[in-house]
Amino acid sequence: MTYNIAVIKGDGIGPEIIDEGLKILKKIGEKYNIDFNFTEALAGGIAIDQTGECLPHKTLELCRKSDAVYLGAVGGPKWDNLKGEKRPEKALLKLRKELELFANIRPVIMFDELKDACPLKDEIVEGGLDIIIIRELTGGIYFGERSYSDDYAWDKMEYSRYEVERIAKKAFEVAEKRSKKVTSIDKSNVLDSSRLWRKTVKEVKENYNDVSLNHMYVDNGAMQLVVNPKQFDVILTGNMFGDILSDEGSIITGSLGMLPSASLGEGNFGMYEPIHGSAPDIAGQNCANPIATILSAAMMLKYSFGLIEEGDAVEIAVKKALKKGVRSPDIAKKGEKIYRTVEIGDIICEYI
Ligand code: IPM
Ligand code: MN
Repeated sequence: MTYNIAVIKGDGIGPEIIDEGLKILKKIGEKYNIDFNFTEALAGGIAIDQTGECLPHKTLELCRKSDAVYLGAVGGPKWDNLKGEKRPEKALLKLRKELELFANIRPVIMFDELKDACPLKDEIVEGGLDIIIIRELTGGIYFGERSYSDDYAWDKMEYSRYEVERIAKKAFEVAEKRSKKVTSIDKSNVLDSSRLWRKTVKEVKENYNDVSLNHMYVDNGAMQLVVNPKQFDVILTGNMFGDILSDEGSIITGSLGMLPSASLGEGNFGMYEPIHGSAPDIAGQNCANPIATILSAAMMLKYSFGLIEEGDAVEIAVKKALKKGVRSPDIAKKGEKIYRTVEIGDIICEYI
C-alpha cells in the first residue's frame, strides 16, 4: 500500500520537528511494509519569502492530490508586521478552508509520566486527564466578513445550521466510542450564532440515544476546565472558543509540546500538526520537543489510513521514551537530563 503525504515544514521549529516525525513514519513504513511517499511544499513565512505568497497554488494542489498533509508550524516575528491576507497564519486558514477540514480534533491527555508538569493541584487531576476537544474549524468569526480602517474595524461571527450539524455529528460519533458524553460550549446567553448552535446540537443529539449531552457557556467552561476538568469527555465547540479552550486544555496537562491534532473533513483525508506554534525563540537549536508532531503522525496513521496497530506502536514508543526519562527542556524538571530534538526522535524510533 502506498500513501502520499504532503509535507509542509513551515517556519521556526517546524522543519526540526517534522524531520523527527518523518523519521518515525519511515520506521513504521519499514517495519510494517508500508510505502509512504513524502513530497515537500512551502507554506507560511518561508513561502512568503520565497514566492511572495503564504500559500502558493502549487502547495494547495499538492495537498489536494495527497492522502494526508503533515504540517510543522507557520509564523514568526519576521512576518509580524504584515497585515491580514499577507500573514503566514493565513496559509493555515486557507488550507483548512480550501480542503474543507471542518473538524479539528485535539486530544487533551495528561501523560502519567509528566504529572508533575501539570499546574493544577494533584487532587483535581488525580487519575489523569483524557479529554477530546472537537473544534469547528472552517466557520464562525474566523471566516466571517471583516473590515478594517484605522478607527473602526469589525468581524462577523456566523454559523449555518449545516455547519453546526456536521461538526456536532463528528462529536457524537467520537463520543460513542468513548465514555459517551458530550459537552457543547457556546455563548448562547448573548450571541445569536450560539443560540442556533445550541438548538442544532440538541437536534443532532436526538440521533445518538446512548450519548449524553450538556451545555455550558464558554466563560463557565473555561473556569470548569481548571476547577474540575475530569467532568469533561468530549468538548464540542466553535472555531474561536475552541482555539482558546484548546490552549487552556493543553497547558493544564502541563505539556503544550506534547499534544497533537487532526483536522478532518468528510472523508479520510486530513491534515496533522502539533497544536503548539513555531516557537521562533528556540528555532534551529535542536531543543524543541518533537513529541506533539510525532503523535500527530500517529493520529494520521489511525484517522486517515486506518492503520490502528501502527499508530498504537508510535504512541507506545513515545510512552516508553517518557518512562525512561527522555525529556526535552519544556518538560524536564530541574536537574533532569535534557535530550535534544534529534536524540528524542532517534530513541522513539528505536522503541518502535
Ligand atoms: C491554532 C492556531 C491558529 C488558529 C492560528 C495560527 C491561525 O492558533 O491552530 O490553534 O487560531 O486557529
Ligand atoms: Mn490556537
